[in-house]
Amino acid sequence: MTRGLRGGRLSGKTALITGASRGIGRCIAEAFAGEGADLILTATSLEGLTEVAENVQALGAKCDLIAADLGDESETDRLFQKAVKASGEVEILVNNAGIYQGKPFEQYTMVELDRLMKVNVYAVFRLTQLAVVHMKTLGRGKIINIGSTAGKWESANQAAYNTTKHAVVGMSKCVALETAAYGINVNTICPGMVETDMFQDFEVHADAAGVSLDQLKEQVHARIPLGRFLQPGEIAPLAVYLGSAESDGMTGQTLTISGGMRMG
Ligand SMILES: NC(=O)c1ccc[n+]([C@@H]2O[C@H](COP(=O)([O-])OP(=O)(O)OC[C@H]3O[C@@H](n4cnc5c(N)ncnc54)[C@H](OP(=O)(O)O)[C@@H]3O)[C@@H](O)[C@H]2O)c1
Repeated sequence: MTRGLRGGRLSGKTALITGASRGIGRCIAEAFAGEGADLILTATSLEGLTEVAENVQALGAKCDLIAADLGDESETDRLFQKAVKASGEVEILVNNAGIYQGKPFEQYTMVELDRLMKVNVYAVFRLTQLAVVHMKTLGRGKIINIGSTAGKWESANQAAYNTTKHAVVGMSKCVALETAAYGINVNTICPGMVETDMFQDFEVHADAAGVSLDQLKEQVHARIPLGRFLQPGEIAPLAVYLGSAESDGMTGQTLTISGGMRMG
């Protein structure tokens, strides 16, 4: 498939998507392919990316896979260099990869905080830096960071995770300010509760409530105005919009999509 010949709102663009093996990142990859983008997909292992690669290729996308542990700064740099080498131009960066760990505040160790910071903040910061340098040479670019409602509001028993997501929201706005003059848009999507593997890490909340994970899910449903978790595919259309020319007038924004959980 020759670059740019497929139709769609992202036709002719190449996107680098982190955390593309599962959950929200995988859905964004498939939605981007459906809108004509070519893709560079990354996760910790190539095996984890096989299925999504087959799906996006079936939609006509050119797709390169790169394995990288984003907890390791040298791998983050290597990832971006390989991405540019593979595609020539990376016009969209989706910083989606993330990890979760919940605990009562005083029980977090500094090693645990460091691990969360490395994947959720340092990798996002560094990839954004590398992308900004590259996109300035292109004179355009879209950076889409996946934050969280945990990056805008308080939550019990996950202070370290919320710290990382608040950092992503803050960084995105600062970078948006510095890059607007170069045709680069930087926005953050803040999902609420989305039904992915990440929910399996919510035992601490189930324990705190004295219920099972399934019972916790029911309790959370009751607190969401729409009455349910979102599906990862419901986040992807917002990412498509932010990757497309339709959002050229939007930068520095923090967009919540949460079934109405937290408003404003
Ligand atoms: N699910 C929610 O309710 C929710 C809500 C708000 C925000 N978010 C955010 O949305 C993003 C995606 O979450 P999700 O729910 O889709 O999570 P998920 O299903 O657990 O998927 C996480 C993805 O990140 C990748 N990843 C994890 N650690 C990595 C590392 N060290 N290096 C490289 N890649 C790594 C995983 O790759 P491997 O396959 O290699 O492990 C996987 O592709 C995260 O930033 C998360 O914080 C999620």
